[in-house]
Amino acid sequence: MANVTVIGAQWGDEGKGKIVDWLASRADVVVRFQGGHNAGHTLVIDGKTYKLSLLPSGIVSGTLSVIGNGVVLDPWALRDEVAKVEAQGVAITAENLAIADNCPLILPLHRDLDALRETAAGKGKIGTTGRGIGPAYEDKVGRRAIRVCDLAHLDTLEPQLDRLCAHHDALRAGFGQPPVDRAALLEELREIAPFVLRFAQPVWKRLKKVRRAGAKILFEGAQGVLLDVDHGTYPFVTSSNTVSGTAASGSGLGPNSTGFVLGIVKAYTTRVGSGPFPTELEDEIGQRLGERGHEFGTVTGRKRRVGWFDAVLVRQSCAISGVTGIALTKIDVLDGLEKVKICTGYRLRGKVYDYLPSHSADQAACEPIYEDMPGWSESTAGARSYADLPANAIKYIQRIQELIECPVALVSTSPERDDTILMRDPFVD
Ligand code: GDP
Ligand code: IMO
Ligand code: MG
Repeated sequence: MANVTVIGAQWGDEGKGKIVDWLASRADVVVRFQGGHNAGHTLVIDGKTYKLSLLPSGIVSGTLSVIGNGVVLDPWALRDEVAKVEAQGVAITAENLAIADNCPLILPLHRDLDALRETAAGKGKIGTTGRGIGPAYEDKVGRRAIRVCDLAHLDTLEPQLDRLCAHHDALRAGFGQPPVDRAALLEELREIAPFVLRFAQPVWKRLKKVRRAGAKILFEGAQGVLLDVDHGTYPFVTSSNTVSGTAASGSGLGPNSTGFVLGIVKAYTTRVGSGPFPTELEDEIGQRLGERGHEFGTVTGRKRRVGWFDAVLVRQSCAISGVTGIALTKIDVLDGLEKVKICTGYRLRGKVYDYLPSHSADQAACEPIYEDMPGWSESTAGARSYADLPANAIKYIQRIQELIECPVALVSTSPERDDTILMRDPFVD
């Protein structure tokens, strides 16, 4: 299989950025295919940290990086991110960055609506990243979005802007907000257009060409399967499909292009934002894992909720997303625990479940059934070979593999790029 599709198999923040960066040196192209700057992907290379939200994680290693049509693009956030990453010494040009010209834009009015809705929802809020992701996707499927290609036709944009703003003005009025200032919005678009247009192109065509030439394509998912708008813990999800199949529709390549599907899986569980979380730990063990794992959101700085490994959820994610093999990350965070627990099923109203039911109230009422395993006192941090791992860590990894019914292809033992153990090469498998 020449291509690899990386997806998160939990609620995001599994370490996708680290693994994509590690694999990128062996790929010819890295493609983002959904989500937007709600993502926060962290790369650590020789002690230097890069935080990417919109830019594909191949950009730092100099691999051609593509933002596909399935992404929602905030052009101002992109400009800020490009400036930040360039200040760290990475040149970003039309040579190494391509943006799909049919990408819908996130506008300031989307951010406004995201915030207005979350504030109005009070305790029932989703806990979004506040980036306008949901409202932008709504406008895309509502067929009123402004897209990257429209930036080259601003003189004829008025009817489209009218249609979009009429919709938003009605919603804003409901929240007691003034209508959108259309002239100011058009002016902002005029100002940002040249910056975006220098990267814009029909990327499906570029990808077709490089694929024909035998290029290895690495697709980089954002968020995780449990945040998928269909398969996740609805309504506490993001507004895109985060599963592997989206790599094809979100980039303009066919379904036979996704190759090896590498599910990124954290050795425990985290979630940021509201919603059900059966194995959540609200005790000192949760506190300890959160501190050791630096579990604070890359995008919003929010404290992530932390819990034991949930094999039921990961087995479900792997099945739904057709995962070929997983990369197990952050095993080092579990070092020093006397005992580790794995959730193997749920108890719900007297019945035992081996899957997460679809209804939100049922999900919230699921009580985890745990299997205990002995921990390990030795350090796994920085290990670069399987043989260097303590026996009990190996037993834990093997048990996870059995329970999720999917092989482990990689193990990550620290944030550093090269602290990675390869067991099965996704590019040649
Ligand atoms: P992503 O959104 O899936 O790319 O993940 P994030 O970057 O948001 O969060 C993962 C965090 O864990 C980052 O701070 C990474 O640097 C860090 N990380 C990744 N792999 C490992 C690992 O194996 N061990 C430890 N301790 N940290 C890791
Ligand atoms: P990466 O790619 C973790 C969560 C938000 C919220 C829900 C909806 O870094 O793994 P949105 O702003 O998308 O409408 O928020 O989804 N969320 C993430 N959680 N990692 C992410 O991305 C996330 N992107 C969105 O916290 O619960
Ligand atoms: Mg993240």
